[in-house]
Amino acid sequence: MQNFREIGKKFGATKFQGDVYPGQTFESIYDDMFAPFRLYNPLKILEIGIQEGCSLKVWKEYFPYAQIVGIDNDISSLFEEERITTYLIDQSDEKKLRDLLERYKGFDIVIDDGGHFSTKQIVSLEILIPHTKYIYCIEDLDTSYPEIHPEFSKEGEKTIIMALKDVVDFAILEKNKIKRIEFRKRFCAIYCS
Ligand SMILES: C[S@@+](CC[C@H](N)C(=O)[O-])C[C@H]1O[C@@H](n2cnc3c(N)ncnc32)[C@H](O)[C@@H]1O
Repeated sequence: MQNFREIGKKFGATKFQGDVYPGQTFESIYDDMFAPFRLYNPLKILEIGIQEGCSLKVWKEYFPYAQIVGIDNDISSLFEEERITTYLIDQSDEKKLRDLLERYKGFDIVIDDGGHFSTKQIVSLEILIPHTKYIYCIEDLDTSYPEIHPEFSKEGEKTIIMALKDVVDFAILEKNKIKRIEFRKRFCAIYCS
C-alpha cells in the first residue's frame, strides 16, 4: 500500500509536499497517526477546507473504505465523486455544522484545514469534538501568533491555542472522552476514545 508521500504526490496535495517545519512533514505525522485506522470499515472523515480537493482525494485513496466529507465556504471548491461528498458550509456556522453532524451521526476523524482564523477554528472545535470518535486534528496553528501572522487575529481575541489550553485543562480535570493531546510544530491532534 502506498504511503501519504506517494499518494500526496499523485494528487498534487500541497500539504504532503513541503515540510510543516524543517524535518517534519504532514505525511510523516499522518502516516503515524492514521495507520491504525487505515482499513477501518466503515470510517467517516470530515475535512474543513477543500480548495481543489487534493487532500480529500488523498484521504480517499489512503483509506480504501472511508466516506470522505469536505466542507468549504467557497462554492468553487465543491465537487462530488465516489466516496467523496462536499458541502458549502462556513466552519463557524453552528447550525450547518449541527445539521451535518445529524446527517452523518458524527465523524471518526476530523481535520481542520479551513480558514485558520482562531474565532472560526474554536466554533468548529466546540461543536465537532463531542461528536468525533477517534482524532480531531488542527493544522497551521501558527496563525494564533500575531508576531508571525498579524492578519489572522485581533488584539484581545481568544486564539485557538488558548482554546486548546482549555481542552488540556478539561482533559486533565474532568471525566471525559479525551485520551491524549499531541502537539507538533504548527499542529495538534486530540485523541478521543
Ligand atoms: C488551505 S486550503 C485547504 C487545502 C486542502 N485541505 C488541501 O490540503 O488540499 C483552505 C480552504 O479553506 C477554505 N476556507 C476558508 N475559510 C473557511 C471557512 N470559514 N469555512 C470553511 N472553509 C473555509 C478556503 O476556501 C480554502 O479552500
